[in-house]
Amino acid sequence: MGIRIKGIGKYVPERIMTNADLEKMVETNDEWIRTRTGIHQRHIAESSTATSDLAANAAKAALADAAMDASELDMILVATVTPDHTFPSTAALIQQKIGAPKCMSFDIEAACSGLLYGLDIAHSMIFSGKHRKVLVIGAEKLSSITDYTDRSTCVLFGDGASALILEADDSIEGDFYLGGEIGADGNYGDILQVPAGGSAIPASHDSVDRHLHFIHMDGPKTFQQAVTSMTRACRKVLEKTGVSPDQIRWVIPHQANQRIISAVAERLNLSDSVYCNVARYGNTSSASIGLCLDELHHSGQLQRGDLILMTAFGGGLTWAAELIRW
Ligand code: UT7
Repeated sequence: MGIRIKGIGKYVPERIMTNADLEKMVETNDEWIRTRTGIHQRHIAESSTATSDLAANAAKAALADAAMDASELDMILVATVTPDHTFPSTAALIQQKIGAPKCMSFDIEAACSGLLYGLDIAHSMIFSGKHRKVLVIGAEKLSSITDYTDRSTCVLFGDGASALILEADDSIEGDFYLGGEIGADGNYGDILQVPAGGSAIPASHDSVDRHLHFIHMDGPKTFQQAVTSMTRACRKVLEKTGVSPDQIRWVIPHQANQRIISAVAERLNLSDSVYCNVARYGNTSSASIGLCLDELHHSGQLQRGDLILMTAFGGGLTWAAELIRW
């Protein structure tokens, strides 16, 4: 039995927020944002749109790409830090929106590493023989947890969703998933978080007044941890799989900051193979790697057999690196 990626889809809301728009909201400027982050613009959802709406659109695009009906799906995994509600899961709501039957569906909370966590879980489920067709989504409405009075974070984030369909196929040989290195370290949980809204600090007038329902980040510490953990995870995957950097066709790092991406690529000696779209979307957390894969796939830049190294880093801290064969 072979296992492959059968379809990829994405969705970003129409509305674009430029750096010039942000200049009117906080004390910042286009030059600072471009040189420190590489971001030129980001897509922002309407207030009436929820994460499940973004995700359902991406899922429909992936199903169309796979020429598959939602009724064929065995499982739906949704990576998000901006669920529609504390519960029910966003995955359950998407199941209803795309018209899938009553398949197993749940959310994954691994912040920006979520899509890669989801791919690993989905692949394991298929490999074990438990499921055959799995939809994995990374979807975020980060604008709903972004503090547009905090210039150190509000310039970074955007909204969007990406979706991948994995399938077991008896007519092919080989497995797209060659290896992964995935981990977490709660010691650094406080450098990147939304402090309130959970059981530790339930919503109150005080938590709202203190802006505790928004993203709080120690930027420089996060930057340093991001470079270290992604580089280390990528090296381990290459070592485990016996693949050398010159065999890699594409590196797709989580799109948080152009400077982080360049630093990781330089350390791995893979600068020529890196794909970036952070300039157009900003940091879309769990959606970002799928947005890159979708663009590469639909612009015809992926050739059968290409080796793709994906790596991510996020709140938790969490990290992941995965090597796949297209
Ligand atoms: O998805 C994973 C999560 N996020 C990340 O991976 C982000 C990781 N961190 C970063 O990307 C970078 O740390 C930032 C882009 C957030 C910040 O860049 P930096 O080079 O680390 O800047 P900094 O935080 O050290 O701040 C440098 C200066 C400060 O001013 P002073 O103290 O030197 O006078 C900040 O107040 O830049 C100032 N600053 C700004 N100035 C204009 C911070 N934000 C802005 C802004 N516009 N938007």
